[in-house]
Amino acid sequence: MNQPLILDGKKVAESVYQKLLLEVSLLSFVPRIVFLRVGEDPASQSYVRSKEKRCLELGLRGETIVFAEFVSEDELIDKILTLNRDKDVNGILVQLPLPKHMDKAKVLRSIDPLKDVDGLHPENAGLLLQGKPRFIPCTPIGIVEMLKFYQIPIEGKRVIVMGRSEIVGRPMAQLFLNYNATVTVCHSKTQNLKEELQRAEVLVVAIGKTQFVKADMISPGVTIIDVGINRVDGKIVGDVDFDSVSSKAAAISPVPGGVGPMTIAMLMKNLSLAATLQSQKN
Ligand SMILES: NC(=O)c1ccc[n+]([C@@H]2O[C@H](COP(=O)([O-])OP(=O)(O)OC[C@H]3O[C@@H](n4cnc5c(N)ncnc54)[C@H](OP(=O)(O)O)[C@@H]3O)[C@@H](O)[C@H]2O)c1
Repeated sequence: MNQPLILDGKKVAESVYQKLLLEVSLLSFVPRIVFLRVGEDPASQSYVRSKEKRCLELGLRGETIVFAEFVSEDELIDKILTLNRDKDVNGILVQLPLPKHMDKAKVLRSIDPLKDVDGLHPENAGLLLQGKPRFIPCTPIGIVEMLKFYQIPIEGKRVIVMGRSEIVGRPMAQLFLNYNATVTVCHSKTQNLKEELQRAEVLVVAIGKTQFVKADMISPGVTIIDVGINRVDGKIVGDVDFDSVSSKAAAISPVPGGVGPMTIAMLMKNLSLAATLQSQKN
């Protein structure tokens, strides 16, 4: 019976934190991040709570400003501009999704690119595209860190990224390209999806569809990274049918306990980078 290697995100995150504490100790100040959350979406509340909790556990400064669901876009942007000017703030994170009445791109563009720890400002997205990254979105860079930790090669490999969102799929594909993988991106309009997926040596699934990827869609020996977070009957499950693919995969990241902890770890790393870059600028 095939037993895949379990890519333990919590374990890898711990090793990231060990290095991070050393990095932060070299600064003459304690990095500070401000989370901006709009509305009372339970998932957003939980994500921001986890990020803030992690900051405090690491001895970093993290705080959340909560806006009512109906706050105006101008009011949110005014707050971001104030935080941009505040030298005591190193990182700004607007928790997504935003309410429908807001222009997400406009809000993200208003963040100082040097404080953009989520890496979603066009300047940071552009730097990644040019192969000269500064802040890389946390989930994709967390996935690369996890592959590196387990010494799973990327260079020259056939990598398939399922999903093309701004926050996961697109930067993920770009990052793999920067690591010399041969990258294919699949999305909802992809034809012959199964054939595409079966070509993968590394498969990243970020589609938000409960247990969509099953054993018959993959080839033996593939490494699978499951990004999905789907809530089913009070439990969190991924985009990959873990039990089914376990009979074929060489390695797989579980949900929960795989990509999630890595995303938070990389946010902390981006905060440390932001603080370092700002201290060099001043
Ligand atoms: N673990 C973490 O830290 C973390 C971080 C971020 C997101 N997530 C989770 O990851 C999942 C994806 O989130 P997201 O924000 O990246 O995605 P998203 O914005 O919801 O976009 C989903 C993507 O999947 C594609 N897609 C949907 N159904 C498909 C299908 N049947 N076949 C192929 N492609 C399909 C869509 O294609 P089109 O573009 O054609 O519509 C789209 O590109 C969600 O479950 C989310 O909660 C987890």
